[in-house]
Amino acid sequence: MLTISVDDGSTNVKVSWFNGKTVETIISPNSFRKGWKSAGLRSDKVIANYLIGETKYTYDITSDKALETTHIDYQYSDLNLLSLHHALLQTGLPPQVIKVVVTLPITVYYNADDCQKNEANIQRKKDNVMREISLNKGEVFEISSVEVMPESVPAVLTTLIDSSASEFSRTLVIDIGGTTVDSAVIVGQFEEISDIYGNNEIGIGLVTNTARQALSNADSDASYLVANELIKNRHNLEFVKEVINDLSKVDEVLNKIENRISELAQNVAEEMKKFCKNPNRVYLVGGGAPLVFEAVKVAYATLGDRVVILENAQTALATENMLYSLSENSDKSTA
Ligand SMILES: Nc1ncnc2c1ncn2[C@@H]1O[C@H](COP(=O)(O)OP(=O)(O)OP(=O)(O)O)[C@@H](O)[C@H]1O
Ligand SMILES: [Mg+2]
Repeated sequence: MLTISVDDGSTNVKVSWFNGKTVETIISPNSFRKGWKSAGLRSDKVIANYLIGETKYTYDITSDKALETTHIDYQYSDLNLLSLHHALLQTGLPPQVIKVVVTLPITVYYNADDCQKNEANIQRKKDNVMREISLNKGEVFEISSVEVMPESVPAVLTTLIDSSASEFSRTLVIDIGGTTVDSAVIVGQFEEISDIYGNNEIGIGLVTNTARQALSNADSDASYLVANELIKNRHNLEFVKEVINDLSKVDEVLNKIENRISELAQNVAEEMKKFCKNPNRVYLVGGGAPLVFEAVKVAYATLGDRVVILENAQTALATENMLYSLSENSDKSTA
C-alpha cells in the first residue's frame, strides 16, 4: 500500500510521495467555500465539489467568501479533511487505498510541560482524517491508516544529521506557517527535544489579513490565496498591477504589506530570543521563513552563517516525513 506524506497546513497542504525512484512534492493551496460550483462549459474536468455529511463545499481560488482556515480548531475541522483530500487528488495519482502521514502543531502534539506526546490530540486528529468525504462525480482516496507527526522538528532531520552537530549542541528549529509559529530545541542529532514553543498569534496570516484589507481599500477584494500570492510576488510589479484595480493605490498597498512584514519579523525574532537565547544553530522552515530570515539573523548575530533557511523551506516537513516513513519501512523489512 502506498504511503503519502501530507503536511496539512492551514493555508497550504504539502504532499510528498515516493514514485519508485524519487520523492515528489506538490503544494495545494487551501481555498474552499460553501456550496457547489456548476460545471461551466468545460466537461473534461471533474469540478471539485465535495460533500461532508450534509454540507457541500467547493474549491474556489478567487472567491472572497473563501472560508477561513487560519484558526486553531482547523486541525479537527471539515476544512482540514477537505484540504487533505483535495491535495491528494492534485498529485495526479489514481485514487486508491493509502496510508497517510499528517502533521499537528508541535504544542498540540506534545504536552508543553513535559514534552510527552498528547495522545488525546493525536487521536482526535486521526479520527478527523478518517472521516467520510465524497467528491461529486468523482472518486477520492481511501485512507486506511493515519500516522501523525509534529510540525517543525522532523523538517530538519536530514540537515541536522548531515551537519556536524555534537551531542551537546542545541539546535533551534523555527517553522513559520500561515497560522502558527512552531518551534523546538533539539539536543545533539535528535538525542532529545528539550523545549517546545507554539504561537498562533504571529503567523503569516497577519500579513495576509493586512494585504486583504489594503486590497479591499483599493477596490480589489481578494481571497486569502490571492492575497498570499501578492505577498510572495510583491516585487513583481506586473503581477501587482494585475491584482490591484485602483492603480493609484499600488504604493500604499505595497507599503502596508512591507510594514506588516517587518513588524511580524521583529516579533518572531523577539519571541524566539525569549524562548531560546543561545542556541548553537538556528534552522528556519515553513513558507513564511523568507519573510523573517533577516530579522532572525540579526537577533542571533553571533551565530553568523549558522542561522540557516532550509532549501525548499515550505515543503521540507512533508518531504522529510516521507523520507522518514520510507526509512522506517525499510528497517521493518530488513529486520
Ligand atoms: N517565498 C515566499 N515568500 C513569502 N511568503 C511565502 C513564500 N512561500 C510561501 N509563503 C507564504 O507563507 C505562508 C506559510 O506557508 P506554509 O505552507 O508554511 O503555511 P501552513 O503550513 O499552511 O501554515 P500552518 O503551519 O501555520 O498551519 C503562506 O501564507 C504562504 O503563502
Ligand atoms: Mg505548516
